[in-house]
Formats: sequence, C-alpha cells, structure tokens
Amino acid sequence: MLRKLAPSILDVDFTCLERELKKIESGGADLLHLDIMDGNFVPNISFGPRMVESIKSITSLPLEVHLMIEKPENHIKSFIDAGGDIVIVHYETSKHLDRLIQTINEAGVESGIALNPATPLSVIEYLINKIDYLLIMTVNPGFGGQKFIPEMIGKIEKARKIIDMQKKSISLAVDGGINLDNISKVIKAGAEIIVAGQIISKSENPEETIKKIKNILS
Ligand code: DX5
Ligand code: ZN
Repeated sequence: MLRKLAPSILDVDFTCLERELKKIESGGADLLHLDIMDGNFVPNISFGPRMVESIKSITSLPLEVHLMIEKPENHIKSFIDAGGDIVIVHYETSKHLDRLIQTINEAGVESGIALNPATPLSVIEYLINKIDYLLIMTVNPGFGGQKFIPEMIGKIEKARKIIDMQKKSISLAVDGGINLDNISKVIKAGAEIIVAGQIISKSENPEETIKKIKNILS
C-alpha cells in the first residue's frame, strides 16, 4: 500500500504562506490538507474558498478540502470551483449526505466523508461504495495540536476491514493528534493517508519533519 502524507496548513504562519508551502513541497508531501472551519459546526473559524483558490494557484500538490461547516450543500460548489481535488464532508453536518456525495461525484472530483470520534462506522454502510476517501477523526475537530484519542485505533482497524471488503478502492485517512510516537500504530491499524498539522508546522524544520514522517510511511 502506498501511504501518503497530507500536511495540514491550519497552524502555519499565513503571512508567509507561500514560503511555508514551498517547505511542505520540498519535504516531499503528497497532498495538502485544507481545514475549513465555520465557527458553528466547530468552535474555530479558519478560511474559505478564496484562500483555497489562492493556494491552488501556487502549489502543484493535490488539495484535500476538509469541510467542517454546517450546511455544506450551500458551499460545496465554491470549494470545487476553487480547486479542491478531494472534497470531504462531515457525516454529522448533512441531512442528505447521499445527495451531497452525488453532487461531488458528478462534479468530477473525489468525494470523502469524515466521521467524528463518537460517530460509528455503521452510518456510512450505504455510502461507502460511492466515496473515494474516508477520514477518521482521531481528535474532536476544531483545533490543531490536540491529543490523539487512543480508542480510535480500533476504529481505524474496523474501517480498514470494511474498506478491504469493497470492490472499489477507497483511501483511509486519519486526522488529528498524529505524532512520531503514534504514527506507527495508526499505520499498523490500516491508515493509508496521514494528515498532520502541528507536528510539522510547529517543528523547527518542517521540511526535515516531513522527510522523517515519509520515511516511516515507506
Ligand atoms: C482538526 C483538523 C486537523 C488539524 C490537525 O480539526 O481537522 O486537520 O489541522 O492538526 P494536528 O495534527 O495538529 O492535530
Ligand atoms: Zn482536517
């Protein structure tokens, strides 16, 4: 399995965004994880489609857009138009998730579902075959730098089994509290895409940290 690293830019210095992106690219990141927070679904507010569009114009990395927003159906088109390559919606935010996934799929970009730590995997039983990407939240969404919830290891293992039973390929991603101590555990549990925020953005040498993580992943 080809494992991938998706650094989150949530906690980078936005005044030097281009420089920070260059470090992420030269370290060897595979994807860029963009956390969209609305101050409603989650307590924090981050940035919107215009920022996604600007980032798209200065990076060649594929963009995964993690929408932590209420009523995602009202904004999905803006984020697709802004250049999201993988658009991820939270199960907990949508009353008509099947319709929303269909909208994303029909737009020709990859669709993903994110699950909060307390949400069981069973809720996506009838959707798993329609998505490209499943994001297991290993912290409660809203902030970078939180502590990994250890019970999520079992959930990742379970998700891996469910995904392996499907005919189509679905990427299994983990997001929140990943560090050099727990990364091997999440890989062993079956994670394929590792989202990592502060361990990279707050490190002295983000480039080196990315290289270190990539080494563990390979
Ligand atoms: C949390 C976000 C994460 C966050 C991860 O709500 O979805 O993507 O940036 O940051 P760390 O790795 O610092 O927990
Ligand atoms: Zn995220």
